[in-house]
Order: sequence, then structure tokens, then C-alpha cells
Amino acid sequence: MSLARTQPLTIAPPEELLEVSFDDGMEEIIEEHLRHYPTRQAALLPVLWLCQERWGWLSAGVLRAVARRLELAPAFVEGVVTFYTMYQTAPPGKYLLQVCTTLSCALCGASGLLERLKEKLGIDPGETTPDGRFTLLGVQCLGACGEAPVIQVNNDYYTDMTTEKLDQLLDELP
Ligand code: FES
Repeated sequence: MSLARTQPLTIAPPEELLEVSFDDGMEEIIEEHLRHYPTRQAALLPVLWLCQERWGWLSAGVLRAVARRLELAPAFVEGVVTFYTMYQTAPPGKYLLQVCTTLSCALCGASGLLERLKEKLGIDPGETTPDGRFTLLGVQCLGACGEAPVIQVNNDYYTDMTTEKLDQLLDELP
């Protein structure tokens, strides 16, 4: 039975993100967030997520544009972005492999999964394969502890993982 259901990310190259502006569709969504949340500051997380979905990662140019649009200090925006592992501040690979390393997953074999990925891909957590296909991260609880161990690939969860399923998943990803 096929396991992989994840499509590759589309990643904008750094030269395209030196300076950015928001198109009408993005502006509409930003306006909606601003109406929905009580302060501009509170809209920051969803606006950052919108940008990451559009461009694949958040360059310094994207952060400047977000800070300007929400009238927030650039240092505040940068502080928020660097706090959360869900935001990527460097171009990731087409597949972002996030291995949960918190207690439930650790007890169910997460370190074996991480080691398998390190060995197969030849990279450490925080690194991207030279062909730009995979980025590996160790992350904190993904909120699916009952189905540990868990790996998130882009926006999809793969639960009750084993090294065999992991091998299959890597082979099947398009
Ligand atoms: S500990 Fe891994 S999903 Fe919660």
C-alpha cells in the first residue's frame, strides 16, 4: 500500500525575495486577518504563514515587508520568526522532514528514525541535502503523541512510524 501523500514544496529562490510586495489575493487575506484579530500584532503569525505558503520560506525581504504592512518593529517580527520552528528563514529542500523528538515519540523510537534519516540522507538536523530535495529537522511535540512516533513532511503527518515505513516513504515521495 502506498504511503506517501505529500507534494514537494515550491521554494522561491533568494534573489526573488530580496524585496517583495503582496498581490491582491494576499492583501485580501491580510485584511481579513486584521479584521479578525484585535491587534495588528496578533495577526502576525497567520500573515507569516501566508507568506511562507506563498514563497516557501521567509527571507529578510519578506520579513521587512510583513513588518511594514503590519506596522510592527522589524526586530519584533524577527524575534517571533526565530522563536517558532514552523517558520523557515532559509530556503528548505522540497521536502521538510520534521522528526518529533519529545517524550512520547522518543519512547517509541524517534531517535532511531532520526538516525536512519541522517544515515540515508547524509545530513544532520538543520541541514539540506546538496540536491535540495530534503531538509531534516528535529522538533518538539507535534501534538499527535497518541500515534507516536510522528514525522511531519511538509504539511502532512506520518504517524506510528517505523524505519521500514520511513524507507518506503522516502522511496515513494515524488
Ligand atoms: S511527543 Fe511526538 S507528537 Fe507529541
